[in-house]
Amino acid sequence: MYRRVFTSLAVFALSVVAAFSQSFRLDMDLRKPGVPIQNTQYGIFFEDINFAADGGLYAELVKNRSFEYPDDALQGWKAFGKVTVLPDGPFDRNPHYVRLSDPGHPHKWTGLENDGFFGIGVRGGESYRFTVWARVPDGGSSDIDVQLVNPASPDESHILCRESLTVSGTGWKQYETILKPEATLDKAALRIFLSGKRVTTDLEHVSLFPSDTWKGHRNGLRKDLAQALADLHPGIFRFPGGCIVEGTDLATRYSWKNSVGPVENRPLNENRWNYTFTYRFYPDYFQSYGLGFYEFFILSEEIGSEPLPILSCGLACQFQNDDVSAHVPVDELQPYIQDALDLIEFANGPVTSEWGRLRAEMGHPEPFNLKYIGIGNEQWDALYTERLEPFVKAIRAAYPGIRIVGSSGPGSEGEQFDYLWPEMRRIGVDLVDEHFYRPYDWFLSQGARYDDYDRKGPKVFAGEYACHARGMKWNHAYASLLEAAFMTGIERNADVVHMATYAPLFAHVEGWQWRPDLIWYDNLRSFRTVSWHVQELFGRFKGRNVLPLKMDGVNVTGAEGQGGLFASAVTDGDRIYVKVANTSDDTRNITFNFTGLKKKEVVRAVEGIRLDCSDRLAENTLDEPCKVVPEGFLFEGEGRQVDASVPPLSFSVFVLTVK
Ligand code: AHR
Repeated sequence: MYRRVFTSLAVFALSVVAAFSQSFRLDMDLRKPGVPIQNTQYGIFFEDINFAADGGLYAELVKNRSFEYPDDALQGWKAFGKVTVLPDGPFDRNPHYVRLSDPGHPHKWTGLENDGFFGIGVRGGESYRFTVWARVPDGGSSDIDVQLVNPASPDESHILCRESLTVSGTGWKQYETILKPEATLDKAALRIFLSGKRVTTDLEHVSLFPSDTWKGHRNGLRKDLAQALADLHPGIFRFPGGCIVEGTDLATRYSWKNSVGPVENRPLNENRWNYTFTYRFYPDYFQSYGLGFYEFFILSEEIGSEPLPILSCGLACQFQNDDVSAHVPVDELQPYIQDALDLIEFANGPVTSEWGRLRAEMGHPEPFNLKYIGIGNEQWDALYTERLEPFVKAIRAAYPGIRIVGSSGPGSEGEQFDYLWPEMRRIGVDLVDEHFYRPYDWFLSQGARYDDYDRKGPKVFAGEYACHARGMKWNHAYASLLEAAFMTGIERNADVVHMATYAPLFAHVEGWQWRPDLIWYDNLRSFRTVSWHVQELFGRFKGRNVLPLKMDGVNVTGAEGQGGLFASAVTDGDRIYVKVANTSDDTRNITFNFTGLKKKEVVRAVEGIRLDCSDRLAENTLDEPCKVVPEGFLFEGEGRQVDASVPPLSFSVFVLTVK
């Protein structure tokens, strides 16, 4: 009896020791460099959802600056005194403007107040450039008083700062003044009073920008948000969406031609996320197109990305339109195809061409060197393929060097996906856009997704993805860890997956329709989510060539017996970057085993960087922006084998060098 108990205890103890001392060997053969990693491998996907453009990245602080909101030309404004809206302004595609007239009593006032997008965020001591197009319709001159105010202030005065402008003459001219608020406030408002002799004055395109925008552009971007993009070192920049490309109906699709030229004359568009979810409804969500295709191209250039515009293929959002008459008939597609051809000319054409000239007039005579174009967003069915084909033919004929992206539909697998992939091969697109907003178990099961993909077919653009935990569709550390695990499969298959972009990119904390998202902000602050840090680590340690990495001869994809590990490796000259996601609840001991070294060569550990996701629901927030961020850890060792351990629920990057 005692012997039996003793034996069982001994067996138990041995198995515990074995479990603790079990080391997972990761084999890497350095004999020859693996497949090259594309510069476009990791990138960003921009869509004007969640107030990502107006109210977000686009630094304009005034909402409805052109008085064109269709339900109410004064939406976003509080008008007082004698204010009328008139329709015959100087900009034909934004014809409305306001007329401020004498209120009729010396102690009454005429003017306007705008409280921006969820308020106007201003910083004390910084400069804000106020501009307005104005005229005095009856001639002579008039005065207006421009103020930044704190309408909720309990103090003696609301005024944070004020300046006066004198408007003169009957012709429309642009006026400018700099406002410098004394205090920082996230919800200031802009007030404009007709002052002086209260001479009737017309105002149009009332605008307020921080002087300090990203790279100092006048029609610029919010600096912290653009910086968060630049810090990802994205190789590819997809814009402008997303469903917004398609529109709820074709009239509201993203029309790139409306987004270029002088900002004052870019017509307003309805934002389809205005009403998409009635449980998060934003009836004041429109697209000013102030952040348009020219600005997207400039931003691509400034952050070192290849631009990837996606254009409408003539289908309105298929989720929202069962009736085929919502779409353009195939034999009437030509204007849409011409839009695509003209866009390529806008980006790359000589300054003597129609669209190349516009690019030059806007300030960029050099071509943008566009290489990619996407036709259609999340489209499906023969409705899509019969429209895509004529686009591909026309683009190939006019611009054989341009690489075309087609769609595999909205699902990560299933009927449409299975129909569309062979169709994309038949039509001969260069890349196929795959989308997956999927739960934990999907991400845990997809480590090997691309291992068996056709090496000869079109390449993959994993164009929209994020882990959406069931019932917990918000940013948290565990979801980000599973994205990292999945991305090791993208990295290992860099010969198949040429681009990958998390989605969506931005969200205003008071204005979101969809989450999780990569970067969040309010009017003054922003933070980078744990998923952002995952993207950043992959971008920072992108490498140049894949280094095949195996456990017992097979890829490390979280398969049974692999201890919940997902791993991939790349080389960059004599540097080796090994990425390991440990999705298990246990520490895993690992031995990196290198073969193919020259006689005297060894591998030396350089540094380790780790994202600890063990607090599964932890998230970064505006108040705690750095709760979960990568941290360095001690990683030492030298030889043909180097040992390491990875804590539970963590994502680690091991940097080594060949000596
Ligand atoms: O990223 C949000 C939406 O998800 C995109 O607009 C669309 O392409 C997808 O359905």
